[in-house]
Amino acid sequence: MTIVTNKAELQAKLNIHRESGLTIGFVPTMGALHDGHMALVRMANRQCDVVLVSIFVNPTQFNNPHDLSNYPRQIDADIALLSGNASEVIVFLPEVEEMYPPNEQVIQYDLNGFDLVMEGEKRPGHFQGVAAVVDRFFKMVGPCKAYFGEKDFQQLTIIRHIAQLYHSEISIVGVTTRREADGLAMSSRNMLLTPEQRNDAPVIYESLLRFVRNVHAGASVRDCKNAFIETVEQRRTMSVGYIELADETDLSLVNHPIDTGRLFTAVYAGNVRLIDNVAL
Ligand code: PAF
Repeated sequence: MTIVTNKAELQAKLNIHRESGLTIGFVPTMGALHDGHMALVRMANRQCDVVLVSIFVNPTQFNNPHDLSNYPRQIDADIALLSGNASEVIVFLPEVEEMYPPNEQVIQYDLNGFDLVMEGEKRPGHFQGVAAVVDRFFKMVGPCKAYFGEKDFQQLTIIRHIAQLYHSEISIVGVTTRREADGLAMSSRNMLLTPEQRNDAPVIYESLLRFVRNVHAGASVRDCKNAFIETVEQRRTMSVGYIELADETDLSLVNHPIDTGRLFTAVYAGNVRLIDNVAL
């Protein structure tokens, strides 16, 4: 494993690989790595010659300063996990000034309205921040492929859109959500849960699956949403931010089942925001 902390060194290393005809796979992360991230790294390892993993807690995508300061950081454990990976990876650990040089112009990205619903509606500016950092990384790294988890399906849709507009040479690869044995979607935020919240959290995935079963059995989307909220909130520690059915091709909200439907939810366990989604 090679660790790089500045852009010039990173680009020099990547150029050597590119000049030798090697392909570069990129896995951007905010650290606090778990097996969901490692699934992205494994996929990148299978599909590309060189894998670059960035670890950078991007301040511009946090609309809530408390969420930013609370975001889990465990760089030593992350490095240990990546160095146990079977194949060689380059790890990029930029500082904030490297990603956001002072006096650099802030662009407003065209997100095609994908940021106006669900996570985007509840977290104003969040997806502009994601677009800003991903665009900067793509320019810096110039990967052939970049890997993102389907747990953040709305983010994945927005990144596909950004790539189509500004980086059409990069293929965006979406990777299936990894789950704990009890169904909870793997997330760096899970480590912020108290034992009681962690015990209650599997209700999210269980209730998403029940929603899917019931809607296929003929129940209305409205009744399924009410049942979802009721079941999740029966757990004292959980409160539903939203539960929405959307068309996964354009994220438009729908209130009847469609073939390309996907259920999206955000549930609060105290201050910890847990998101998940499943195909209908
Ligand atoms: O999904 C994440 O961890 C982040 O949003 C990303 C894509 C690394 C951008 O900071």
